[in-house]
Amino acid sequence: MEFAAKASNGHVNTRFLDGGVVAMARKCENLWLEVALSAPTPPKKYVKTPQGLQALIDDGVIDEVLRPLKSGKEAAVYVVRTGDDVRCAKVYKDMAQRSFQQRVQYQEGRKVRGSREARAIGKATKYGRKQQEDAWKNTEVDALYQLRAAGVRVPEPYGYFNGVLVMELVTDPDGFSAPRLGEVELTPEQARDFHQVLVRQVVLMLCCGLIHGDLSPYNVLVGPDGPVVIDFPQVVSAGGNNAARTMLLRDVNNLTAYFGRWAPELLDTWYGEEMWALFEAGDLLPDTELTGEFTPDESEVDLDSVRQSINDAREEWIIRQQGREAAEEDWD
Ligand SMILES: Nc1ncnc2c1ncn2[C@@H]1O[C@H](COP(=O)(O)OP(=O)(O)OP(=O)(O)O)[C@@H](O)[C@H]1O
Ligand SMILES: [Mg+2]
Repeated sequence: MEFAAKASNGHVNTRFLDGGVVAMARKCENLWLEVALSAPTPPKKYVKTPQGLQALIDDGVIDEVLRPLKSGKEAAVYVVRTGDDVRCAKVYKDMAQRSFQQRVQYQEGRKVRGSREARAIGKATKYGRKQQEDAWKNTEVDALYQLRAAGVRVPEPYGYFNGVLVMELVTDPDGFSAPRLGEVELTPEQARDFHQVLVRQVVLMLCCGLIHGDLSPYNVLVGPDGPVVIDFPQVVSAGGNNAARTMLLRDVNNLTAYFGRWAPELLDTWYGEEMWALFEAGDLLPDTELTGEFTPDESEVDLDSVRQSINDAREEWIIRQQGREAAEEDWD
């Protein structure tokens, strides 16, 4: 739904029920409330259609772009309308805008179709870069379909068209686009509940042979039924990657450290280590009960360094959060 107002300075302002009304109401409360109540018919086309989405409109995949939602480091996400449904469209940014060196480890263990493609990706040729970019986007789409089918709490994918992923818009209970986990205050009880739900999602993913690889409070949305995991381009194969265990522990440590702010007893749990040991032994099932307890082989594991990684994860969020805030200021 969409509203428009002619403000006293003569500019036409367009705001959307999904999120934008709040900002507008704060700016010129009386005018806005009056207009919001008396202008139910949406005016057309105040949002310029972004490049990349026009082809989807031309092909009838979506009907219109309602508003930009977020521009992250990898992609710009838009709220779009398809018939009566409001959905979201993720438009990937060009490779040139992303830091690709750090992604090399993610590519390890990922299946690339033909040997020509594999060789091209190995080299920094133009063809190689194109293949790598396609692999990156397709990885997210493939992962979403696979995880959704396995019952993991991820947005429902509606297809991948012209380099754009169209998927379910996760909303909050009032129908506004859902906040990220990193933006909400929690009670200790909610923190414990969300932690359990998310640890189970990590188990379900591992049972599919996948590790998220960037599981932070910014890649989890808080929907009406609890947390939903998003953002999968860097997903890694649990089997074929030397760094898989490290990544799994980092993902789980991220959750532990975050929820530990509200429920400090979680900081004494070892879910990542526990599930990895079960997974390696071939004993991890989607409904395997976990205890959070784990007795490491002291001869191999340096406990201090494991705890240190939790602290590192904490610091990483602070840095990320600052980066995101700066990126959002640019976007506004
Ligand atoms: N399905 C969705 N429903 C609602 N909001 C979404 C959805 N997908 C993405 N978003 C919003 O868009 C933001 C960016 O999406 P995503 O994390 O997939 O891309 P990104 O480029 O990796 O961003 P970032 O750098 O912030 O991680 C998310 O933090 C979230 O606020
Ligand atoms: Mg993200």
